Amino acid sequence: MKIIVTGGAGFIGSAVIRQYMQETEYEIINLDALTYAGNLESLASVSDHPRYHFEHVDIRNIEDIKRVFKQYQPDAIMHLAAESHVDRSIDGPADFIQTNIVGTYNLLEVAKSYWDELPAEKKQKFRFHHVSTDEVYGDLGETGLFTEETAYEPSSPYSASKASSDHLVRAWYRTYGFPVVITNCSNNYGPYQFPEKLIPLVTMNACEGKPLPIYGKGDQIRDWLYVDDHATALRLVLEKGKVAETYNVGGHNEKTNLDVVKTICALLDEMISDSKHIPHESLITYVADRPGHDIRYAIDASKIEKELGWVPQETFETGLRKTIEWYLSNSTWLDNVASGAYRDWVQRQYG
Ligand code: NAD
Ligand code: TYD
Repeated sequence: MKIIVTGGAGFIGSAVIRQYMQETEYEIINLDALTYAGNLESLASVSDHPRYHFEHVDIRNIEDIKRVFKQYQPDAIMHLAAESHVDRSIDGPADFIQTNIVGTYNLLEVAKSYWDELPAEKKQKFRFHHVSTDEVYGDLGETGLFTEETAYEPSSPYSASKASSDHLVRAWYRTYGFPVVITNCSNNYGPYQFPEKLIPLVTMNACEGKPLPIYGKGDQIRDWLYVDDHATALRLVLEKGKVAETYNVGGHNEKTNLDVVKTICALLDEMISDSKHIPHESLITYVADRPGHDIRYAIDASKIEKELGWVPQETFETGLRKTIEWYLSNSTWLDNVASGAYRDWVQRQYG
């Protein structure tokens, strides 16, 4: 198999690529614009492999996407490239509209034209896997779970742009018979996550004795999934998922933000027992709430579990411990991100 992975230099994309390189013989083409969220240091372990290729391409540029399809003749595409941070989408939605909506449209257009010309057997096997989020379903309220039938009701510019892209992908199946699959996943956490998201941000700040910002009262609930479990689900859906189907992916790990932060603090108290910031919990600082903040997300993952046999390997407790241990023992990765040094290579290569 030859697979284009868009956004492969990001948090989840890099986990997917590391798994593909370790566990399969597939050829992987990482198509990524290297925005602030793209970090090729996350792929240092695979970057010299002959089955791995990197293409510095922005999905806002349709001509560049065409060139990559022509050059590599892929069997499938897994589309993760996106602007992914809700707070940034509130401050500046424009990039979210261009990358998440227009960029997805560009990929659909190029991939469909390519697929139109494929010989029958390759055409029948081709897949366009669109990777999306549970945030498209909006605010859940106190009870219930998101199923694949839940109506879309996105709240933020980020989730609205992802919802738009999901609709485009479904329309390309309904109108043209283009073979798509979609996954909608809950909040991921794990190694190599950019420290603007809750778990790495709090870990980094706590280690440095800086305030740990909790939006509002910290009573919002997210359903956390370890990133390698998500990567396994994505690979399974790409190969075994039914065309035109949606699969919700989640970890059955509903936690309030305050609980998450307190658990990180307790783990750090234990793991860096000589820290001068113990108890780390004393660094918790309540700050103004995020506008339009969704109170609760929670996924019903029974479809992917029953139909494809996927089960997450990590509980929140085991996954979080692994994650914090990883950040503590990979401080260079985090330091390079925090200082901006991870951008130096991009600057040298591409200006
Ligand atoms: P991320 O922000 O860590 O990485 C995004 C990647 O996309 C980066 O490498 C970036 O350089 C690249 N990119 C951004 N704009 C681009 C463009 N115009 N052209 C080409 N590449 C571009 O994101 P992530 O957390 O790894 O999320 C990946 C996907 O999974 C996204 O589509 C996101 O919506 C979805 N998702 C994320 C989560 C989560 O908790 N992180 C949960 C569910 C779904
Ligand atoms: P985040 O990691 O940004 O993911 P998302 O907004 O996609 O769910 O945030 C997770 C939760 O943590 C969300 O409810 C917002 C909250 N949060 C804080 O309380 N403080 C912070 O500094 C951040 C980044 C997030």
